[in-house]
Amino acid sequence: MKSSVGEFTLAMRSKAIPVAGGAGYIGSHTARALRRHRHEVIIYDNLSTGYNSLADGFELIVGDIADQEKLARADANCGSYAFRRSRLCR
Ligand SMILES: NC(=O)c1ccc[n+]([C@@H]2O[C@H](COP(=O)([O-])OP(=O)(O)OC[C@H]3O[C@@H](n4cnc5c(N)ncnc54)[C@H](O)[C@@H]3O)[C@@H](O)[C@H]2O)c1
Repeated sequence: MKSSVGEFTLAMRSKAIPVAGGAGYIGSHTARALRRHRHEVIIYDNLSTGYNSLADGFELIVGDIADQEKLARADANCGSYAFRRSRLCR
């Protein structure tokens, strides 16, 4: 089964999708859109400009995407897809 979220098309599966930057403006909308399409979401965010409140109702892992070890641990609980905001990945 397929689900379209904006420009992304994802295969439906049971594992969570990590959304880096999910406690910010665009990431929190992304997380909610994924949940509306019945995906489980984990928010990964260092809260440098984001807000705990935008992650309400989601599992929140506080971490920096530069922390590869922590990111890999978060990804280990997830499926094949991950949202990495390119602006964060510079
Ligand atoms: N229309 C509106 O009401 C509205 C409101 C806010 C923002 N905006 C627009 O949205 C854009 C900004 O939104 P955004 O989502 O790109 O920015 P954002 O700052 O809201 O979100 C970025 C998120 O990434 C996190 N983050 C940053 N560096 C990180 C790192 N190294 N590791 C992990 N997490 C990290 C931050 O803590 C934050 O939660 C701007 O263009 C702004 O003008 C519009």
